[in-house]
Amino acid sequence: MDACRVIGLISGTSVDAIDVALADLRLRGDTVELVPVGHIEAGYPADVREELLAALPPAGCTAEQLCKLDTKIGQAFAQAAGRALAELGQADVIASLGQTVYHWVEDGDCLGTLQLGQPAWIAESTGLPVIADLRARDVAAGGHGAPLAGLFDQLWLKDEIALNIGGIANITRGSVAFDTGPGNALLDLAAQMVAGQSYDKDGALAPAGKVRHDLLDVLLADPYYRLDPPKSTGKEYFHLSYLQAALDEVPAVDGPDLLATLVELTAVTIAEACKGHRVVASGGGVRNPALMAALSERLDVVTSDSLGIPSDAKEAYLTALLGFLTWHGIPADPPTGAAGPRLLGSITPGRGPLRMPAPAAIDVRQLRVTPLGGSLACS
Ligand SMILES: Nc1ncnc2c1ncn2[C@@H]1O[C@H](COP(=O)(O)OP(=O)(O)O)[C@@H](O)[C@H]1O
Ligand SMILES: [Mg+2]
Repeated sequence: MDACRVIGLISGTSVDAIDVALADLRLRGDTVELVPVGHIEAGYPADVREELLAALPPAGCTAEQLCKLDTKIGQAFAQAAGRALAELGQADVIASLGQTVYHWVEDGDCLGTLQLGQPAWIAESTGLPVIADLRARDVAAGGHGAPLAGLFDQLWLKDEIALNIGGIANITRGSVAFDTGPGNALLDLAAQMVAGQSYDKDGALAPAGKVRHDLLDVLLADPYYRLDPPKSTGKEYFHLSYLQAALDEVPAVDGPDLLATLVELTAVTIAEACKGHRVVASGGGVRNPALMAALSERLDVVTSDSLGIPSDAKEAYLTALLGFLTWHGIPADPPTGAAGPRLLGSITPGRGPLRMPAPAAIDVRQLRVTPLGGSLACS
């Protein structure tokens, strides 16, 4: 029986927290069965988060800063994994998507991508093997390396559209998966500018404002929205200077109007990409009622919770799935534009030598999510 327990670790572009999920995964014919055992949100130490945000674009940073961040983020991920092992249960292997600090896209092609969070720290403190750098091989094979959620969504939902609203929003629609543009990225920057808050908690600020159509038009003129998929983007593009440049093109904008306009931008660009279909939504944006109301005006939205995957841990469960596939020697085929399925990631041994399961000689065609109850035994 090809079964194991995998911890998935990720911190998205919002840099709000490290999301950790523990999943029981098992192969049954051409189906992967996933039991979501549990998830936690582990905070970054405040100084690490601050250092990280200060080093990200549009700011520059040095090799010294990158080295220190790689170490401190690796340590924070190790601590998060340790918490998950203590609070959620034991695991066989850990998968980490790390912290994206730069996603290099030029003329619509992804040329490189950098995730920090040195896996040696995770392996050293947990004693478990760690599969990390899960995007690089997809990029080397001509893909965008993101969004990898397309792999999970295609196997799980088949014909429905999946939407994840993190710092950047992405969808999986039929045979393509791509970033639609900013999810919460610009909203979070605006909440900081307007109210000194890291995000607009419960969408409190936006409803007091009105959409400024002059600003919305400037923002919607960005050519990114008209690029054909596959495509990906990040906060090295949708950053503070980007927002400031748009604001400079129009008369002064009130704080609440700025929030209302950015809610509209996120909703319009997502809805345009989803073409009026029902979507299964996840990510922190689901917790912003102003954003969800704007989306619901245009789309039939349900959250992934209703289908068994907690909306705030979907990407952590995706990470666990990616780790499971690599651990079992199964190439992954996310619809990111890569030349074909590839074995993703780099593996750091745990306390002992690597003892991996025999490679499974199957094409995975389905992901079945079953609720916790009949827990899967490990082989
Ligand atoms: N209660 C809330 N009200 C409004 N927005 C929220 C709330 N909770 C989370 N968010 C938004 O979700 C973001 C984090 O979402 P997440 O899916 O973790 O993104 P990422 O994958 O980029 O880290 C926060 O930065 C914030 O914008
Ligand atoms: Mg996050």
